[in-house]
Amino acid sequence: MANKIKRIGILTAGGDSPGLNAAIRGVGKAALGDYGMEIVGFRDGFRGLVENRRLNLDRTALSGILTVGGTILGTSRDKPHRMEIDGKTKDMTGVIKDNLRKWGIDCVVCLGGGGTQKSALRLYRAGINVITLPKTIDNDVAMTDATFGYATALDIATEAIDRLHSTAHSHHRIIVAEIMGHRAGWLTLGAGLAGGADVVLIPEIPYDVEKIAEAIGQRSKRGSNFSIVAVAEGAMSRDDARVFDAAEKKLERAKTLNEKIEAKRAIAALEVRHQDNTLRLAHQLEGLTHLESRVTILGHVQRGGTPCAADRILATRLGTACADLIAKGQFGVMVAARGENAEPVPLDQVAGKRKSVPRDHPWVEAARRLGTCLGD
Ligand code: F6P
Repeated sequence: MANKIKRIGILTAGGDSPGLNAAIRGVGKAALGDYGMEIVGFRDGFRGLVENRRLNLDRTALSGILTVGGTILGTSRDKPHRMEIDGKTKDMTGVIKDNLRKWGIDCVVCLGGGGTQKSALRLYRAGINVITLPKTIDNDVAMTDATFGYATALDIATEAIDRLHSTAHSHHRIIVAEIMGHRAGWLTLGAGLAGGADVVLIPEIPYDVEKIAEAIGQRSKRGSNFSIVAVAEGAMSRDDARVFDAAEKKLERAKTLNEKIEAKRAIAALEVRHQDNTLRLAHQLEGLTHLESRVTILGHVQRGGTPCAADRILATRLGTACADLIAKGQFGVMVAARGENAEPVPLDQVAGKRKSVPRDHPWVEAARRLGTCLGD
């Protein structure tokens, strides 16, 4: 098998994140230098594999990209089995398989988060040699200690909380800072802890707004009449969490196509309503505490810019380990970070699973011991 791998394809899919270029460089330089393989980058995620949009990743192309944010390849959220082609949704798995054979590409390296791991598993099951790397600022990919992008986003969100402190203090305000993370609270919990937020709200711990107001009131009584609330974009009140939960259970139970469509529509409607959650929360807190409230939505600032040192190192070591696994012919796996090691984990143990914050995680415990309100 080892001798057979001559040409590697590589792509980045899903939301971009700092460290992607460091990982491309890690895979590429090790594959070229140690194994004499050729490496071809496909543009804009899985779509590049369908449309044959590519970039030859020779030594020149791989140089000078370590510190560059985003991805030199471009990305998209396209899925191979459900791709918009000429206004129609099509399964392009067969086309991708034929293309790879035609172009002499022996394997594909997919850099991505949870959605990408699922797509990669589908391609592997369809007979394509696939190997993945875990990236996302959300840090929610299962079976890996860490994902690259997270450490940089954590620094950015922490700095934002630091900066919000002085203005909240000067104006005696509540500032509610919304932090990304999709359905996981890693980014908010980490930044809340590192930045000393007074209230930290994460999806894994549904909140009670009265309890938050009470904690803010206690702070005022102690002479601190300002508060920083770090809220994850996926955080929910207890009532909303119950409604979401019920909607998701309905989807799990759905048997017919119509029932599934109906359940998915209901979830989508709830998600649309949830988009205003942080604004609603600030408004509620203003009403309950009589402290002026403001909202800061950090948004895509958290995904931009140069990767921090920790992400560069993580991406580089996983990337170089990926080249070794390719040379050994090991596919259908994600290259996971396990302590200081990089280990292959079968994709079916990763795809469709989410690494959430355990309610008794040491960071949660530490926050509670400091008196941080977690909304429960
Ligand atoms: O998965 C990374 C992430 O930034 C999430 O934190 C966020 O929910 C989502 O992507 C935003 O996606 P988009 O860039 O497509 O708006």
